[in-house]
Amino acid sequence: MSRRIEPLITEEQIKARVKELGKQISNDYREKDLLLIGILKGSIPFLCSLMWEIDNEKLAMDFMDVSSYGSETESSGDVKILKDIDSSIKGKNVLIVEDIVDTGRTMQKLLGMLETREPASLKICTLLDKPSRRVCDVKVDYIGFEIENRFVAGFGLDDDQYMRQLKYVGEVIFDK
Ligand code: IMP
Ligand code: MG
Repeated sequence: MSRRIEPLITEEQIKARVKELGKQISNDYREKDLLLIGILKGSIPFLCSLMWEIDNEKLAMDFMDVSSYGSETESSGDVKILKDIDSSIKGKNVLIVEDIVDTGRTMQKLLGMLETREPASLKICTLLDKPSRRVCDVKVDYIGFEIENRFVAGFGLDDDQYMRQLKYVGEVIFDK
């Protein structure tokens, strides 16, 4: 089976939207500290471009790696922390930066785990959202783009670990 990638969201569209999100986040966290927690590895390009657009003198960042076991196409919500953040988030304003929220299971579990550490606030910012796939009613505070139920790769998102380096997001088409 071969696969090809069909552009869905262009580099220009991503740049423009990230700029808007950065402005919104700058306003919402004015005079506040802000800790971005990037979820490895898919959030890296998004987090990098987003941070340039956030105007905040008390911006810090940290990273987590989580794995969600399940079938190849669907997460189970059985989330394991593979790499935790380095310091305490108690009393801090935390913004989780994710590549995509699909069923919402991963984010719901992660929110639950981080809530127990008593941050001052805890929000989610995702590049992509697939609302039609949602199983868990998780509130996503900042959304780059809503997409239909398609398997996508690029700008951090992977197809079996590949394609993360693409500057755009494309749909992965599986040809027989
Ligand atoms: P959830 O727990 O179902 O919301 O799973 C979200 C995770 O599934 C994301 O962090 C991605 O790693 C992965 N994922 C979901 N949809 C896609 C996709 O279309 N392309 C690549 N990865 C995806
Ligand atoms: Mg992921």
